[in-house]
Amino acid sequence: MTTKIAPSLLSADFARIGEEIASVESAGAAYLHVDVMDGRFVPNLTWGPKIVGDLRRLAQLPLDCHLMIEEPERQIEAFRAAGADLMTFHLEATAHAQGLLGRIRALGAKAGVAICPQTPVALLEDLIDDCDLVLVMSVNPGRAGQRFIPRAMEKLRQARALIDRRNPSCELEVDGGIGESNVRDVVAAGANVVVMGSAIFDGGDPGGALRRLRALL
Ligand code: DX5
Ligand code: ZN
Repeated sequence: MTTKIAPSLLSADFARIGEEIASVESAGAAYLHVDVMDGRFVPNLTWGPKIVGDLRRLAQLPLDCHLMIEEPERQIEAFRAAGADLMTFHLEATAHAQGLLGRIRALGAKAGVAICPQTPVALLEDLIDDCDLVLVMSVNPGRAGQRFIPRAMEKLRQARALIDRRNPSCELEVDGGIGESNVRDVVAAGANVVVMGSAIFDGGDPGGALRRLRALL
């Protein structure tokens, strides 16, 4: 599997979001990672379906919506109608993960489940057959620019083993604290989708940063 890079728009300049998107799209991004935060599951608030719909009209690439929201089951229809191609909710945010994966797929989107740093990969055993994507968080969700939690490397290896054994077409995404110093390591540990926010957008040349990161892989 070739490695996919998913720039996190959380670190992009929304006053120039069209240009930011065009520059990462032309530099070889695979998905646009859209961090939805509700001020409850995580303290921060970002955006809802209106902005996702606006991004959908600007972007060519699939929108990879990372839902850091409580009770995601109440919101998936709205995000799907707005144009979310892939919806990943947090296992910690719902008591109905298995059913929710099926509901997301029934809406015609890809379905992902995310786990926070304290959540063991073993809790995915009874969900993996219904997943299109597993997201291993390598920081505590909530904001960009945090330090990578080293334990995530072992969790990626465990998740890769589970996926290879049970559902090889499932993607394995990693999110948080990734940049030039560790992008190769997360891929070696089994990730095939790498989310990066500050490493791509903070320097003011997202296309160039993305090309340099891709050259490392
Ligand atoms: C954190 C978000 C991430 C974040 C990544 O809660 O899920 O997608 O934007 O940013 P960096 O790459 O700067 O850690
Ligand atoms: Zn994210």
